Amino acid sequence: MAHAPAQHEHVSVVQQDGVMEIRIQRPDRKNALTHGMYDALTAALIAADTDPAVRVALIAGTDDCFTAGNDMVEFLQNPPTGDDSPVMRFLAQLLNQEKPLIAAVNGPAVGVGTTMLLHCDLVYCARGARLQMPFVSLGLCPEAGASMLLPMIMGHPRAAELLMLAEPFSGEEAVALGLANAVFEDADYLAEARQKARRLAAQPPASVRLTKAFMRGPMRDAVAAHMKLEGDNFLARLSSPEAREAMTAFMEKRKPDFSRFS
Ligand code: COA
Repeated sequence: MAHAPAQHEHVSVVQQDGVMEIRIQRPDRKNALTHGMYDALTAALIAADTDPAVRVALIAGTDDCFTAGNDMVEFLQNPPTGDDSPVMRFLAQLLNQEKPLIAAVNGPAVGVGTTMLLHCDLVYCARGARLQMPFVSLGLCPEAGASMLLPMIMGHPRAAELLMLAEPFSGEEAVALGLANAVFEDADYLAEARQKARRLAAQPPASVRLTKAFMRGPMRDAVAAHMKLEGDNFLARLSSPEAREAMTAFMEKRKPDFSRFS
């Protein structure tokens, strides 16, 4: 494979045959995303959209993990504060991405690790994929348009299970719920996703881009407005007592206690 310059020590970018492969690689922290990693991911997505040699972007994690979502230590110590924060710019770029985006998901895909899939065009899971959106359990609220898109895709009751009870789910369930295309054995999921990416990269590129724009277009402004609403509340809730209790409990490896909150 031809190597493009690495964007970040924990985000690798490799380009070949019209496919930009973006890997999240911070295995000792389960690929938890820091501000710097969000910036690198955003830069890679923008590069994919602007480089005429790239027709498809493929995002994946490491051997046993997609991503554990936002880095909780950073959320406690140096939380994002506004629309121009790295996480918000990443989510905005996902929404605005013009070229197709494919996700190859294995192991934990937590928080934004699941919600980013709502903005991908094709999603392939490994049998060992375990998805979860624990925003409520963390005293936060959904982001990336999840509270709008999930009820549209699967109906309110099932979306409420995933968002309010924060129930984890498998790749097979993700397919059944309409969030993913297919499940492959853990040893095969990445090769299968790469093959789909190469096939998509061989399609007429302008026609692919137009089709993506048509598919996303009718809901785009409404999703953007909803993401802004969620984002403002998400950032505000990061400093809420509920969220601080939840995140501190995670770091201290204990169960959170929400009994004192009304
Ligand atoms: N932020 C910061 N550190 C994280 C992290 C996160 N989101 N997710 C995992 N880590 C750290 C753990 O604290 C642990 O650190 P340690 O080795 O110093 O103890 C290390 O990564 C390995 O994680 P561990 O929990 O031991 O791995 P696991 O295989 O048992 O579980 C997860 C993996 C992803 C299920 C679990 O780590 C988890 O639930 N993480 C939090 C996910 C989350 O709530 N994300 C935020 C969404 S907004």
